[in-house]
Amino acid sequence: MSGIVAYIGKQEAKHLLLNGIKQLEHRGYDSAGISLFDGKDLLIAKKAGKIAELEKILEQKDISSNIGIAHIRWATHGAPNDINSHPHCDNSGNIAIVHNGIIENYSALKTKLSEEGFSFKSETDTEVLAVFIGALYNKVKNLDEAVRLALSEVDGTFGIAVISKYEPDKLILARRGSPMLIGIGDDEYIAASDASSIIQHTRQVIYLSDNEMAVLKKDSFYTKTIDNIATNNKVHLIEFDIEQIEKGGYEHFMLKEIHEQPNTFFETLRGRLLAEKGDVRLGGLLPVIDKIKNTKRIIITACGTSWHSGLVGEYFFETLAQIPVEVEYASEFSYRNPILDKNDLVFAISQSGETADTLAAIKEVKRKSAVALGIVNVVGSSIARATDAGVYIHAGPEVGIASTKAFTSQIAALLLIALHIGRMRNLSQVDGIKIAKAMLKIPDQMKSILDNTENIKEIAKLYSKTSNCLYLGRGINFPVALEGALKLKEISYIHAEGYPAAEMKHGPIALIDENMPVVFVAPQDEIYKKIISNIQEVKARKGKVIVIATEGDKRIKDYADHVITIPKTIDILTPLLSVLPLQLLSYYIAIERGCNVDNPRNLVKAVTVE
Ligand code: G6P
Repeated sequence: MSGIVAYIGKQEAKHLLLNGIKQLEHRGYDSAGISLFDGKDLLIAKKAGKIAELEKILEQKDISSNIGIAHIRWATHGAPNDINSHPHCDNSGNIAIVHNGIIENYSALKTKLSEEGFSFKSETDTEVLAVFIGALYNKVKNLDEAVRLALSEVDGTFGIAVISKYEPDKLILARRGSPMLIGIGDDEYIAASDASSIIQHTRQVIYLSDNEMAVLKKDSFYTKTIDNIATNNKVHLIEFDIEQIEKGGYEHFMLKEIHEQPNTFFETLRGRLLAEKGDVRLGGLLPVIDKIKNTKRIIITACGTSWHSGLVGEYFFETLAQIPVEVEYASEFSYRNPILDKNDLVFAISQSGETADTLAAIKEVKRKSAVALGIVNVVGSSIARATDAGVYIHAGPEVGIASTKAFTSQIAALLLIALHIGRMRNLSQVDGIKIAKAMLKIPDQMKSILDNTENIKEIAKLYSKTSNCLYLGRGINFPVALEGALKLKEISYIHAEGYPAAEMKHGPIALIDENMPVVFVAPQDEIYKKIISNIQEVKARKGKVIVIATEGDKRIKDYADHVITIPKTIDILTPLLSVLPLQLLSYYIAIERGCNVDNPRNLVKAVTVE
């Protein structure tokens, strides 16, 4: 996703900004650019492709600067080419801006500005904003006021950073619906759309709020709303370490994050699971605990992998707390006038906490006065701040675009919440203790899967050339089948579909022949016998069957071409184990195919546009 880094201070801005955008590289982008003021002129360098391309241009320019803005772009308006890359300038070339988000009324603004004689080089909404700021600067001769006036007339979302030759001692930032953090150093500020670009320099940050802007000078700054009302911001401390965003000896972030799961799962439970009491302590939910206790309906909303964990959560809430649950794609939820009242609990699940569709859903929930709760990884993110209360999953920074450790930690958090609500309602202590004890065994069980990957690598080799793959599961493992298919699509570009296993006979069975690999998630649970029948249906049609089965299941070999085993746990915890082989299978298939696992084409880590 597009990313911004901006700097004002005493250091050489060029290297600092380039390093800053490199920290965001793994999120996916198609072009990069930078603007620096060298004391005389505003330099702009931008290029489609990787940051290395931009560096080549900059190597030829001997420039010294203590102020600058940089950007990596993921195209929304206009193709990913040099001209559409950021920064964009006003018509004088003296004001440069970088922008994340979408200016929705850019077309009307562009027409108006064109009629006034202004011109445009690119197809982007961002250039329209730059030209608009320039037009207003001509009138008010004050940079922050020109930015403020322009932003008060735009619809849509933005995180922006602006510098200008007119007032070269100022760096201006603003946000609405797109994150912007200001790192506070010693007579210097490094601002960015993500904490990972800041952490090398300082841990002290301010999170700008929606409709807020900041004017930074080398040694001071102030913030105000776009309506011109002064604001005060609390300084927060970034808690994660730099090592957490490095590869730590693994070839890819994705593999590292898959292997982190025994720890990250435990981090989600840490200090919360009261195993001896069969209960849970969740401080983050205390402000709304009465509403939670008495609710009659839960809605879960999310996108992508987080939506899949929501589907697993549905089973938890219904089984343990006996509360009816609906799971909604966030992108659909806010646009169909959902029926909500003040007693409904809505959980928004998001790793990044910045997904625009999920944020929009939360706004709709709040507009209708229902209780908005977050299950979020990134501390201080927009969704974490927009919700009434919530539970951080504490999985640490997830860098690989294909989400892995966030999935198991989201499931862990959902399980904690459901267990807690269950215990406040009808779930017995005996049952609570049984679940809690089984949860504590999960990290070691995950380790045993991760220590035995040879079989998975072999299977990956055999099927790396397939064009299609089906993933089937039942009950609580149906969402795991969906997640397995999503992982394969995302990083290996193989067409894959997840289905409830029994639903296969109503359509997908037509696809089965000797060339179709079918992955079954079939642990020995309540519906094991039923899924065996589904496996036989595939075998009878010569499909290639790969089964994720429980250790010690002797019968399964008779039906399967390949078996990958997972340790035995209680039924509702099986997704925490069954998803690991699927993550690994997609990883190794993608490696066999020579794919760029951490940076798959067209995908980004957090989609901050609707
Ligand atoms: C993007 C990512 C997915 C992720 C989804 C939701 O599409 O590529 O991996 O699952 O967004 O992201 P969130 O941060 O809200 O969980």
